[in-house]
Amino acid sequence: MSVEETDTEVILTHPENSKTFVKILKYGATVYSWSLEGQEQLWLSSAAKLDGSKPVRGGIPLVFPVFGKNEDDEFLSKLPQHGLARNSTWEFLGQVSANPPTVQFGLGPELANPELTKLWPMDYSLILTVELGSGHLKTHIEVSNTSSSQPLKFNWLFHTYLKIADIEDTLVSNLTGAKLYDQMLQESYVDRQPVVSFHEELDRIYQRVQEDRLIQVIDKGHPIHTVKRHNLPDVVTWNPWVEKSKGMADFEPKSGFKEMVCVESGHVHSLLELQPGQSWTAYQLLYKDELNYQVL
Ligand code: BG6
Repeated sequence: MSVEETDTEVILTHPENSKTFVKILKYGATVYSWSLEGQEQLWLSSAAKLDGSKPVRGGIPLVFPVFGKNEDDEFLSKLPQHGLARNSTWEFLGQVSANPPTVQFGLGPELANPELTKLWPMDYSLILTVELGSGHLKTHIEVSNTSSSQPLKFNWLFHTYLKIADIEDTLVSNLTGAKLYDQMLQESYVDRQPVVSFHEELDRIYQRVQEDRLIQVIDKGHPIHTVKRHNLPDVVTWNPWVEKSKGMADFEPKSGFKEMVCVESGHVHSLLELQPGQSWTAYQLLYKDELNYQVL
């Protein structure tokens, strides 16, 4: 069977290769494992909570309706860092295609974490579609404003933890020339480096990166992950390095920062705003590709 549902998760297996599968926790609709022909592609902390007591440290947590902490909006500012989608149990809506195996999950205020919903009392509906190709993983989101009177303001982000061999041999490409906000320096500038390399904690929000730029994670000259984005102009790159990893109780092993890099596709630099009845869609596609330097 290519789709298996348990009380807590849904597992899709590709019909042509039993070693290609994706595991999705209903809590947060969090993809926490993606195996491609037997090779795990996502990083997951060995101390990650998969019991719904905390957002998952690893995989692809979903960030909605706020990225980081909002300081200005009357309601968004009350929510904790990264919002409420990653700490709510989503409804499994079922399978929508047999090949490639594709499933959907839904979330709205009636299902979402009640404590957080009190803080952000909006009418919305989210539908996450997860498609497992023989060589790709596509996560597609549709956000609808189901209110009859209020606009819906939000950020969206796929907080993707990619598995790598060694952070010091890793580069992230095709962000050259983009304006970024550096959360470590707390300042904005244009990245003039040909590639992003990692030597200490790095936390950057690249803004309005053209959609045709493929973001690639390169290990010793070989592209190991390619990220294609649709309607997701901002790219967050993050590695917590030594000290920040020590401060996160659910980040294990403490040396795990060497084997992960977050490349997060989102709409976070500004808020999206939907009028009553309007919807917005976007997707992230993870796959393997040839080395493709589009900007140097
Ligand atoms: C990244 C942010 O997206 O998420 C970082 O840019 C943050 O600033 C990181 O530290 C992890 O956040 P959290 O809430 O999962 O610990």
